[in-house]
Amino acid sequence: MAETSGLEAADGIDPIEKIENGLDFNEATARALERMYQAPEVQLQRAVVLHSMSLRAGEVVLDVGPGPGFLAHDMAAIVGPSGVVSGIDQSEPMVALARGRCADQDWVDIQVGEATDLPYQSGIFDAAVSTQVYEYVEDVEIALAELCRVLRPGGRAFIVDTDWSSIVWANRDPERMRRMLEAWDQHLAYPHLPASLTPKLKQAGFQVVRRDVHPMFNPEYNPDSYSAGILEGVRSFVVGRNGISEAEADAWAADLRELGEAGEYFFSVNRYLFQVIKPGLPSEG
Ligand SMILES: C[S@@+](CC[C@H](N)C(=O)[O-])C[C@H]1O[C@@H](n2cnc3c(N)ncnc32)[C@H](O)[C@@H]1O
Repeated sequence: MAETSGLEAADGIDPIEKIENGLDFNEATARALERMYQAPEVQLQRAVVLHSMSLRAGEVVLDVGPGPGFLAHDMAAIVGPSGVVSGIDQSEPMVALARGRCADQDWVDIQVGEATDLPYQSGIFDAAVSTQVYEYVEDVEIALAELCRVLRPGGRAFIVDTDWSSIVWANRDPERMRRMLEAWDQHLAYPHLPASLTPKLKQAGFQVVRRDVHPMFNPEYNPDSYSAGILEGVRSFVVGRNGISEAEADAWAADLRELGEAGEYFFSVNRYLFQVIKPGLPSEG
């Protein structure tokens, strides 16, 4: 995907191209995200989602945007060889990572594809999950309608997205932080999706049964933490946006790391989990 967006970044690089290069669409950023998503706080969120899903052996499950495939691997361990885990991700490097991670589970099938055009028959999945994906999907209403279509009546879906305005990040220059985060908001289609997700889910045909909030919380600086990964992602992404130079982005990152060394680091951001069902018989388990 390299269509021009009509928005031109200050350095002349098309922003959509830059989003792909800066986040999760090439090999280097797929690897960076894979590393960041091994942080304990992200593992904990995956465990919460997995627990909520109450999967059983033999179930047929879909992961929309599995990325590096951590959740697909864990779901496959539960549904076992009598079940199926399918995944659709638009990034070939991500698909390669997910396939590698699930290489020993031949009931896992990960394909390159679009959340807005799922290559499955209607009503075939018992359960579906999509974490940190719909906030990137411009046609999110179409994607949610697709998700509803492929679930069986009574099937359940679990959706996680971040509200990026919920960031609390200790810093020594609030105006610079404001500009940095404003530029970071450009890395995805919907930086504030959770607040409007309930009506979108209902419109797509779902019944919303539960909503929870899960903070990513790093009260200390640790290079292997979630926020250290986000810090590096923001630093590289914002250069050329909002008039931010590389030197300014580097100074912003250095400020945060210095706070870490001084024992004054503090970061949190909220992810939101939506549990929904597709109404109809047979009832979900
Ligand atoms: C932030 S990663 C999350 C990965 C994984 N769900 C997780 O939580 O570990 C977002 C993933 O969504 C995929 N993605 C984004 N937009 C997509 C779309 N329209 N269709 C399919 N996949 C998409 C990206 O390629 C990437 O792998």
